[in-house]
Amino acid sequence: MSDRFSYGGGARYYDQFSGEWLYRAGRVEGVQMLGARAGDTVLDVGCGTGKNFPLLLEAVGPTGHVLGLDRSPQMLDVARARVDRHLWPNVTLVQADATRFTAADLKGRTPDAVLSTYAMSVTDDPDAVWQCVRAVTYPGSRVCIVDMRAPTGLARLLEPLARLACAMGGADINAHPWTLLEADGAGVEVRGLRGGHIQVGAGTRGRSAADTSSALRTPHSGPAIHD
Ligand SMILES: C[S@@+](CC[C@H](N)C(=O)[O-])C[C@H]1O[C@@H](n2cnc3c(N)ncnc32)[C@H](O)[C@@H]1O
Repeated sequence: MSDRFSYGGGARYYDQFSGEWLYRAGRVEGVQMLGARAGDTVLDVGCGTGKNFPLLLEAVGPTGHVLGLDRSPQMLDVARARVDRHLWPNVTLVQADATRFTAADLKGRTPDAVLSTYAMSVTDDPDAVWQCVRAVTYPGSRVCIVDMRAPTGLARLLEPLARLACAMGGADINAHPWTLLEADGAGVEVRGLRGGHIQVGAGTRGRSAADTSSALRTPHSGPAIHD
């Protein structure tokens, strides 16, 4: 396993030590900026124990679906227990490596939107994750990346703490994965929270030469997508 951190043995303690007092703001803002609609299928990349699921399910409603993808079986066990406890019928868990998953891993579902919170900076290749996200979505799919960087302004005084938190979670504080969306997406907005330590970037997945006409499906009867 080449990634920075395994999220294996500590999985059952993750919910107690994930620092929700600080980091929940990012997932709340992320789901809001993602703008998923009722009936959408949302892919949560590096879903961990499923802390985003309640917010995502509220957004997509009973006709929508959440796909939670993570590499760690132990994190997915905790996520599964959460799903079972809440009797959520519309969540599917996928064990896969975010740097190399394909549409075939997604159990026949095509994501209308993709969210990743505090996960891309933990992988050793955020660009590979982005390429996988591109490959399983269509132009116009909503994407939101929430991750961490060193705080700015007065909050720079807290930089050692921010660095410690990232190091403890195996995250590269310099990875800045939302910049991949900024460089490659359309209509991207980035907001900083908690002194800039949390960055929330959201926009639509743009179109590239690699997109064939069959990849240009738009499952919703909304306006045509021009990007
Ligand atoms: C800090 S946790 C974040 C979990 C969740 N997104 C949240 O906001 O609470 C990072 C997660 O990324 C997962 N992860 C790390 N590298 C991965 C990879 N290459 N493929 C899939 N998941 C990965 C870990 O297993 C872990 O569950």
